[in-house]
Amino acid sequence: MRRKLVAGNWKMHGCAADLAELTALTALLPADAATDVVICPPSSLLHRACQAVHGTAIAIGAQDCHAARTGAFTGDVSARMIADAGARHVIVGHSERRAAHGERDADIRAKAQAALAEGLTAIICIGETEDERLSGATLDRLTAQLYGSCPDTASAATTVIAYEPIWAIGTGRVPTLEQIAEVHDMLRAELVKRFGAEGEDVRLLYGGSVKPENAAEIFTCTNVDGALVGGASLRAADFAPIVMALQSR
Ligand code: PGA
Repeated sequence: MRRKLVAGNWKMHGCAADLAELTALTALLPADAATDVVICPPSSLLHRACQAVHGTAIAIGAQDCHAARTGAFTGDVSARMIADAGARHVIVGHSERRAAHGERDADIRAKAQAALAEGLTAIICIGETEDERLSGATLDRLTAQLYGSCPDTASAATTVIAYEPIWAIGTGRVPTLEQIAEVHDMLRAELVKRFGAEGEDVRLLYGGSVKPENAAEIFTCTNVDGALVGGASLRAADFAPIVMALQSR
């Protein structure tokens, strides 16, 4: 049985005062939740966020890491530093990083490898553009990203795959349930092909305009094990109902 997971990506939002949302979230979620909850604040808040959720069921993750342990990489943060701050997860390969920072599959694989080496869980993002979707290239594109971005050392305990169609991120547009199911079923089959039985246990998240209003419907897809949530993760009042929708599936 795969444990359910909802991860919130705050992106470049949030200052110290917004940590109050973590306290609010704790109050809204049952303490014995069967759903894993991870919040990924900006790196400036990582350490304080870890302190804020100490003793609760919420875990903290980062939004990116460098592939090297240390070095002359101005402005970057390594997986080791993220673990040192108390975080347990890191998102790698988000489409905003792929687009704005030119990250390719090989870079993302190296980052994921670095994360695993530090005992972090890597949340590896893949997703097609709208043009790829319209030209029928979606499944080929995603398969290539899955193979290219996911390290051979990946295991179900340490690796999560997030399918995020780029055209659905921050747009309010969501694929049909059939489209989501088609992709997730294909990803499951590819994971099993590559990792054997272990591939059955790797969690697959859907991301892109997940809201309290559409979460329950998205979670009806068999191979959707949870969600990666952007905008709706910023406020506990929006995020908690998404967690509860998965919890009660
Ligand atoms: P969104 O972002 O929920 O605001 O569409 C999702 C993401 O980028 O992870």
